[in-house]
Amino acid sequence: MLKRKDLLGLKDLTAEELNEILDAADGMHKVLATGVKKIPNLQGKNVINLFYENSTRTRTSFEAAAKIMSANAINISASTSSVSKGETLIDTGKNLDALLADIIVLRHSMSGAAHLLAKNVRAGVINAGDGLNEHPTQALLDIYTMKEKFGSIKGLKVVIAGDIKHSRVARSNIWGLNTLGASVTVCAPKTLLPAGIENMDVSVSNDLDDCIRGANVVMGLRLQLERQQAGLFPSVAEYNAYYGIDAARLMRADGDAIVMHPGPVNRGSELSSEVADGEQSYILRQVTNGLAIRMAIMDLLMQGRNQ
Ligand code: CP
Repeated sequence: MLKRKDLLGLKDLTAEELNEILDAADGMHKVLATGVKKIPNLQGKNVINLFYENSTRTRTSFEAAAKIMSANAINISASTSSVSKGETLIDTGKNLDALLADIIVLRHSMSGAAHLLAKNVRAGVINAGDGLNEHPTQALLDIYTMKEKFGSIKGLKVVIAGDIKHSRVARSNIWGLNTLGASVTVCAPKTLLPAGIENMDVSVSNDLDDCIRGANVVMGLRLQLERQQAGLFPSVAEYNAYYGIDAARLMRADGDAIVMHPGPVNRGSELSSEVADGEQSYILRQVTNGLAIRMAIMDLLMQGRNQ
């Protein structure tokens, strides 16, 4: 039993907890595979999506997961809420508590926002991405997709290429994959690597042609132009020439390798269209698996509450 009020990151999850979530997602996946789109697990529960940043996949996936499990799913966008009148995150959270929220799914531009909210509300908080810190449900659906393909995470060679510096997805994947025994290499120009990355128990490379050799998983990351100061790389075209994942580079990976990307994809920047739409692309599989992962997490958190 996942004995936690909140799911805030993968940094402090044990292998047992990670496997419990992956196993529960497998159960949800099997239910969805039968074509069933309504189960009673969260009947009478209020799930509130509180998003201070834009989202397509995460928000839709949480809303769909909540509705499939018979919860009342409520969406709040910062731009159309009283946040735009100056209300703080903590006050907003306390008001959602007063409105009988059981789960608050939070996306916020500030690293640590989900931890701050979780300390101040009764509802369970799920981190749907906080600044540059973590995006745990994305990493869980990534890890689930790798396990679905390869049977086990232990010993997998995973290359994460791109804007590591600004990527909460990379950080959550590194924590989770390391805990489950994968071998992770991060690859980027020096300007797109965060200080201290080598202390995260990963191999670090600036040469994608070299480190992609023999990889089982090649994960591209979006160039987060909105979070960057000027001058971290000369141009998107030059970035693509050295770090873009195209068919020629992918040939160097293991013959059975898969390509992943959390989305949204900037075609021609971090991935060529040929790769994004190719047979080795698991990008849309990741999106589908996100539904089962989010169902499993909400179910486990609510089961834990009822103990
Ligand atoms: N992967 C991801 O977080 O996508 P969205 O920003 O669309 O939610």
